[in-house]
Amino acid sequence: MKRKLITSALPYVNNIPHLGNLIQVLSADVYARFCRLKGYETLYVCGTDEYGTATETRAQQEGKTPRELCDYYHAIHSDIYKWFNIAFDHFGSTSTPQQTEVTQTMFLDLEKNGFINEHAIEQLFCTSCDRFLADRYVLGTCPSCGYEDARGDQCEHCGKLLEPTELLTPRCSSCNAKPELRTTNHLYIDLPKILPDYEKWMKETSVKGKWAKNAIQMTQAWIRDGLHERAITRDLKWGIPVPRKGFEKKVFYVWFDAPIGYISISRCLFDRISSNPEADWKSWWLNPDNVELFQFIGKDNIPFHTVIFPSSLIGSGKNWTKLYHMSSTEYLNYESGKFSKSKGVGVFGSDAKESGIAADVWRFYIFFNRPEKSDTQFTWKDFQERMNSELIGNLGNLVNRTLTFIARYYEGNLPQKDGSLSSREDIRNVSNALKEETKKSVTKITEYFEWAELRDAFREAFALSDVANKAFQDGEPWKTRTTDPERAESLLHDLCYLIKDLLILVHPFIPDYASKIASFLGKEIWSGIVFDEAAIKAGTAQNPLTWKPSAETLSWNDLGKREGILHVKMPEIIFKPMDNATTDTYRNTYAGSQQERKDKKMEESTEKTVETPSPVKATDLFNQKIALITAKIVKIEKHPDAEKLYIETLDDGSGIERVIVSGLVPYFTEEELLGKSIIIADNLKPRKMRGVESKGMLLAGDYTDADGIEHVEVLDSSWAAPGTPVILEGADPSFKKPDCIDADDFFAAPMKIVDHVIMIDDKKLTINGQPVVSKKITTGEVS
Ligand code: 2FM
Ligand code: ZN
Repeated sequence: MKRKLITSALPYVNNIPHLGNLIQVLSADVYARFCRLKGYETLYVCGTDEYGTATETRAQQEGKTPRELCDYYHAIHSDIYKWFNIAFDHFGSTSTPQQTEVTQTMFLDLEKNGFINEHAIEQLFCTSCDRFLADRYVLGTCPSCGYEDARGDQCEHCGKLLEPTELLTPRCSSCNAKPELRTTNHLYIDLPKILPDYEKWMKETSVKGKWAKNAIQMTQAWIRDGLHERAITRDLKWGIPVPRKGFEKKVFYVWFDAPIGYISISRCLFDRISSNPEADWKSWWLNPDNVELFQFIGKDNIPFHTVIFPSSLIGSGKNWTKLYHMSSTEYLNYESGKFSKSKGVGVFGSDAKESGIAADVWRFYIFFNRPEKSDTQFTWKDFQERMNSELIGNLGNLVNRTLTFIARYYEGNLPQKDGSLSSREDIRNVSNALKEETKKSVTKITEYFEWAELRDAFREAFALSDVANKAFQDGEPWKTRTTDPERAESLLHDLCYLIKDLLILVHPFIPDYASKIASFLGKEIWSGIVFDEAAIKAGTAQNPLTWKPSAETLSWNDLGKREGILHVKMPEIIFKPMDNATTDTYRNTYAGSQQERKDKKMEESTEKTVETPSPVKATDLFNQKIALITAKIVKIEKHPDAEKLYIETLDDGSGIERVIVSGLVPYFTEEELLGKSIIIADNLKPRKMRGVESKGMLLAGDYTDADGIEHVEVLDSSWAAPGTPVILEGADPSFKKPDCIDADDFFAAPMKIVDHVIMIDDKKLTINGQPVVSKKITTGEVS
């Protein structure tokens, strides 16, 4: 019996996973649970994929360091997976010293064996962000359709595949500066040179390990189209250092190190729990004769797992455990479109958690509908129908009616009458037919499971449940209980043991439900060993190589056994059917993007708190929330790390110097601004702009003329001393400074330029009783 090493694609750490992403993690969980129940030595590892441009950029957007961002999202992922009952042996991450060690060694092995080449290439570089731009971080006008926000890899509007250099007027997606072409050196893995060995391995393994059809097809297409050298380094900071002279400022490409994460995460686990970690991790990862590696991924990740990663392993010259079975699913679509992380469309892990629908119901629907051989669709209607008709109407019904019947009419004592041992032929026939069906199903389901055909396995279990329901129906125990007691008793006995088998069979899919029902039969189902953090901290984590289930627990070996159930409890109702109104509510709740939902929620919550909603007047908002004062620019310099930003030091009348950052470089020289009397927002929360903290915001008028040219004018306050309040006409100048607010709140009271005068609604903005004006702008906005 070979060991089963199980992985699911390491999720990127910069986002919340949606159901489409959860499929991989859940699929591997179901398979691992099966393996443990079956008695295989099993190791299931996963973790967050943390390095790369996407993380760096996201961190910048969220005002976090990459480390902070990773920790933040790692915790969110962990929570969601815990909620879904995913029993990892370890859920780690790729940003560990172990990962660095394994990756660098892998690289050095490849280099030593002559599979690494160095080439110089030209790439776009943003001088203001001081970094090379990955293709998708260059925006510009599409040369084909004229769409202005086309990305450097593809135009979203017309679909054309692009090189970033083809974009007209290219700009950096984070700072809008114009990037320039620069030469940079990179390292490449020589896949063509590894190809002969790789191809031999692939031909053999894909057949022996029964790879999913899409994996075989895509891999063959890759080989047919010819393998190319692939860059494995990037000009970035957040990644694994490249141990080679001249590459001190570069890191490994995230896709070179990500799959290595499977290895390093296993290592991290054994480093924590084993007295001989080195031997333990190697017994899994450098032991291809005794270990079968099952990998669960989405189809978009196929070539990385079937071509590139195995080629790295082969090229390293070491005897690595390589991919055995590839379980690559198709896409799960949402209602009529696609799940999308970037657009926030679909049901997200966090939504599922808050939905009030049990984790097992989600698991049920995902596996009933797993996109195994073609894309499938998540629709709320289908969710409702499957749940009501199968989970509740079929399996739930069988369990309920059988156990309730035994509890009610036999005081819960299971009649100990095996139908196939009866002296009556009619009873034996019914019983044997049921046993035969069960046996056939168990064989089929086990076979499906062995090759991770999870949806087929799950559906077959429901087919068996259906057969059992029919047997209950045809046997009419509610009549025969009194007219032919032996027949009723045999049937209930057989059905109860069949239920026990079903619980074992569906346990990997819906573990909570199966365990709960098993407890009504006085049984528990073994769920294997899990090295969760809590167990490690409590010192109760067990070594998976030595821990075995106790005699009382049910496992795969107990399928078909007809002994050990004596008493049955009255079952509780576990799932309630979903009605149409509830289904509609869910559909509406999760319609649109995450952002739209957030906005809707905000609206609803304000509607709820304000009894008779009356629109808040901008002038009231201004008087209550916003503080403006005058100030004078006493020093000004360019921001060292941002092309458009000035750092200004102000005298705001307080006697303490105050620094603000503003994006005025494109409009004014330093000379034009130095010494100017301005107006600033006095109670904004300080915020960091490219590493410099800004304590306030300068007000400027703004208008775009018919030629599309933007005119900007810094609002002047030269008739007042620094620190003078800027208030609406008629308001109290000695008011107390309100609490700090976000920039968004500030803009909730928009200021307009009407005939040169700055207004909020119908009130003028004034300093010392004199209206604030824009000299050049007749009509415009203030920001
Ligand atoms: O597509 C993704 O989410 C990638 N982070 C998957 C990586 S799988 C593995 F190689 F780590
Ligand atoms: Zn930039």
